Amino acid sequence: MSHVLAAVAWPYANGPRHIGHVSGFGVPADVFSRYMRMAGHDVLMVSGTDEHGTPIQVQADSEGLTPRELADRYNRVIVEDLHGLGLSYDLFTRTTTGNHYQVVQDLFDGLYRNGYIIAKTTLGAISPSTGRTLPDRYIEGTCPICGYGSARGDQCDNCGNQLDPEQLINPRSRINGETPEFVETEHFFLDLPAVADALAAWLDTRDGWRPNVLRFSRNLLDDLQPRAITRDLEWGVPIPLDGWRDRNDKRIYVWFDAVIGYLSASIEWARRTGAPSAWKKWWSADGEGKDAAAYYFMGKDNIVFHSVIWPAILLGYSGQGSRGGSPGDLGALNLPTEVVSSEFLTMEGRKFSSSRQVVIYVRDFLERYDADALRYFIAVAGPESQDTDFTWAEFLRRNNDELVAGWGNLVNRSISMAAKNFGAIPPALDLTEADEALLAVAKAGFGTVGGLIERHRQKQAIGEAMRVVAEANKYLSEQAPWKLKDEADKPRMGTILHVALQVVSDANTMLTPFLPHSAQKVHELLGGTGTHAPMPAIEEVSDLDGGPAYPVLTGDYTVGARWESTPIEAGRTLAAPKPVFKKLEPSIVDEEISRLAG
Ligand code: MF3
Ligand code: ZN
Repeated sequence: MSHVLAAVAWPYANGPRHIGHVSGFGVPADVFSRYMRMAGHDVLMVSGTDEHGTPIQVQADSEGLTPRELADRYNRVIVEDLHGLGLSYDLFTRTTTGNHYQVVQDLFDGLYRNGYIIAKTTLGAISPSTGRTLPDRYIEGTCPICGYGSARGDQCDNCGNQLDPEQLINPRSRINGETPEFVETEHFFLDLPAVADALAAWLDTRDGWRPNVLRFSRNLLDDLQPRAITRDLEWGVPIPLDGWRDRNDKRIYVWFDAVIGYLSASIEWARRTGAPSAWKKWWSADGEGKDAAAYYFMGKDNIVFHSVIWPAILLGYSGQGSRGGSPGDLGALNLPTEVVSSEFLTMEGRKFSSSRQVVIYVRDFLERYDADALRYFIAVAGPESQDTDFTWAEFLRRNNDELVAGWGNLVNRSISMAAKNFGAIPPALDLTEADEALLAVAKAGFGTVGGLIERHRQKQAIGEAMRVVAEANKYLSEQAPWKLKDEADKPRMGTILHVALQVVSDANTMLTPFLPHSAQKVHELLGGTGTHAPMPAIEEVSDLDGGPAYPVLTGDYTVGARWESTPIEAGRTLAAPKPVFKKLEPSIVDEEISRLAG
């Protein structure tokens, strides 16, 4: 057993989540975490809502709320979205907790003391018409590196480079088109060049990453500049230095605070379980956590923050850059084992857009369809390693032809035939070669499917699990147990059904990380009791440091099925099953498409 951190990207609390958001990191991280737990690892899966910075400030302005009110509203909505999908977070919290503020300030402080944070006077953009600070991402212009015409002030989406707004050629405000005015202002910078060698050495030891992600990350090291980690903003974590702490016009940059959330959420989890140092088993680089592994799940627009900025923070804090230093109060901390980044999902050929109504929100989806139908689609057809389009027609086809006609049919016909003819799981008598062969295919599936999930090839993994299902369906068709109705043939019929039910049980175990809700049902149809696939729960908690109460997602995932074939027991009573999956009407395709804006 080993300790495995599953660090899942933090959604901005600026609106409900749509299926593009959850297909790139929420669901894949849950599949991985569920599998790793079933395989005996000690998994800590953490995340929360990302509640600072201009994305929140701007949306709050547009909804006529304070940033805090906006964050409160969408934190709750998002917790419910993720709960509905059955995502098994050990802790899904938020960035506005007292605990998070403390940990962020500890890290800032440790980096500062080690010399990896430097003060600089820079140019800040001001809107000449309002006199207010113009956030970087609200400035647009031509990229000085690749010449792309619509680069943003923080990043060029064409070449992927990080930018500062004053580097843009012909800068203009995205709010009203005016040319921003740049004025001098003092800010703190993370000294990335001082950790460049350490970052390169670390990346050189990484293997098994998706090739795009590793290549992209290596390229980012070619031209590292100090990166501003404070902003002219009222909303965010205060800067923990004398003379700055009480200023209300300067805050820590949202990305600096958000990535630290992985650590602060782990600490919050430990404090809530009553073992306040337990987080070290996943984090402490020179102590209890030195053999732990950490996997970070996100969309590709987040790579730089996870493969450069966050490791740079960890290295500097641990005193491992060219300026040396010693670990801060939390000790030396583990770097990511792997940055698991997905590509983008589009919707009927277009970019998801809430403002243009090219969107399907998780909560609307779950009102009309089952969580596992979506989880199945994401697993077999999600944006794992290339940009992928979600279409309602393909969703319908995958659901009806694969989930219902493949897996649902196998479950249904094997259990109903056994229930009807035996009322219980029949015993297996002499096994034929065909019986042995099918049982062997199922047994072998555990190694294959598990190995693929471990390497983040979930598409292939679920394909292999569904191959076991297809083999079992073929076996049933060939063995045709329904023809063995004569009293003399009944023992053979029982053997065939026993073999089929064993394979249903095995396939169900292999599908559990992907389809946890239906796996629990299939477990019960097979006469099983107790928890097969544990589920998260929403709990209202009080802030550990005196702040306001908030909802978290958490759960006890130590119970449930193991990643192995469990022999089914002959004689266990079976009832005629209710269908586990719902066949969808073809008319949903047009209905759903008409809900999208033209
Ligand atoms: N809120 C960011 C986004 O939606 C992701 C933050 S991931 C973090 O793009 F953990 F680094 F915070
Ligand atoms: Zn560019």
